[in-house]
Amino acid sequence: MIETLAVALGDRSYPIHIGAGLLERLDLILPHIKQKKVVVVSNTTVAPLYLDKLQATLERGAISVLPVVLPDGEQFKTWETLNLVFDALLGARCERGTTLIALGGGVIGDMGGFAASCYQRGMPFIQVPTTLLSQVDSSVGGKTAINHPLGKNMIGAFYQPKLVLADISTLNTLPERELKAGLAEVIKYGLIRDLEFFVWLEANLEKLLARDPVSLSYAIHRSCANKAEVVAADEKETGERALLNLGHTFGHAIETGMGYGEWLHGEAVSAGTLIAAELSRQLGWLDSNAVERIERIFVRAGLPVFGPRLGSARYLELMSHDKKVQDGKLRLVLLKEIGRAIVSDQASDGQIGAAIEARCT
Ligand code: NAD
Ligand code: GLY
Repeated sequence: MIETLAVALGDRSYPIHIGAGLLERLDLILPHIKQKKVVVVSNTTVAPLYLDKLQATLERGAISVLPVVLPDGEQFKTWETLNLVFDALLGARCERGTTLIALGGGVIGDMGGFAASCYQRGMPFIQVPTTLLSQVDSSVGGKTAINHPLGKNMIGAFYQPKLVLADISTLNTLPERELKAGLAEVIKYGLIRDLEFFVWLEANLEKLLARDPVSLSYAIHRSCANKAEVVAADEKETGERALLNLGHTFGHAIETGMGYGEWLHGEAVSAGTLIAAELSRQLGWLDSNAVERIERIFVRAGLPVFGPRLGSARYLELMSHDKKVQDGKLRLVLLKEIGRAIVSDQASDGQIGAAIEARCT
């Protein structure tokens, strides 16, 4: 069964298809491709698993495929790797109307999308996410980026895809650790705006860990529905969209501070969410029971609930690069209650430091 959602952005609206076996569905892809040639950007792990299948599908539609296979890993989300995509596009004389398809997890999606946004000032772009994290979050909403040594996702663009094709069969080959990392972003939606979903997750977490397709499909659909609603209301993050960054300011500091690739993004978001929850408790919004309830679900998901001991001064230094900083003041996504997040600049550096010290080991 295929489920379809829309990201409503006027004439830039696009569908998200979720289901099993979608890599073989030429009928879903073809309407979004203008030329008889496409570029598929993937990596050395995903390409051997799924490139042939996607290529065979496209070739059934008489579309030729130029594969661009990048090294795998967060540490390669860089200018140097991005340039390999431009080398291939220019080398093959790709035109402005050539479609770029990103086949992989969030790293490939973010880099492929950024390359598409820049190449000849913008070429059509399709997301084919193959990790849980990318199916529930990064492939939807048009944020594209690469990392900088001083900060995560610091160089990028808002650039919406024409289509998101989330083939849940690809999750069968996903390593356990990556599946768990993806759950961090799933739980996030419950925490920031969907209490009913949070309660569903508490009841169904083991089914997700066991990769039950019906439960996975429901969780992906509900996550994407939440994200699509937020993005439609605030595409460029002038307000509500910032809430999608719960745990991310702390998490990005962990990823940058530890060296890209050391902590998975979802792992860093998990530990970061617990720091945000602790700070929300210190501000008098969450009680200890609520913090423990949040901790419990992340522990059950096999995710870290304490950050690495970088020292609160180092965290604050890394966090000063956050994209939510306004007039030099750090703004954080915090929780008023489970199911309701806000953006706040109320916490002092002292309070933030105390929350970090309490939640880092
Ligand atoms: P990832 O892209 O590094 O993928 C995780 C690992 O799984 C990689 O080794 C990858 O090669 C492998 N893999 C992918 N699909 C597979 C499959 N089906 N079977 C086996 N292995 C597979 O990591 P991710 O968690 O997908 O994405 C994290 C990235 O996404 C981070 O860079 C983060 O900043 C970004 N992100 C972006 C947004 C956004 O809105 N743009 C949102 C959240 C996260
Ligand atoms: N992952 C955060 C966002 O898309 O806004």
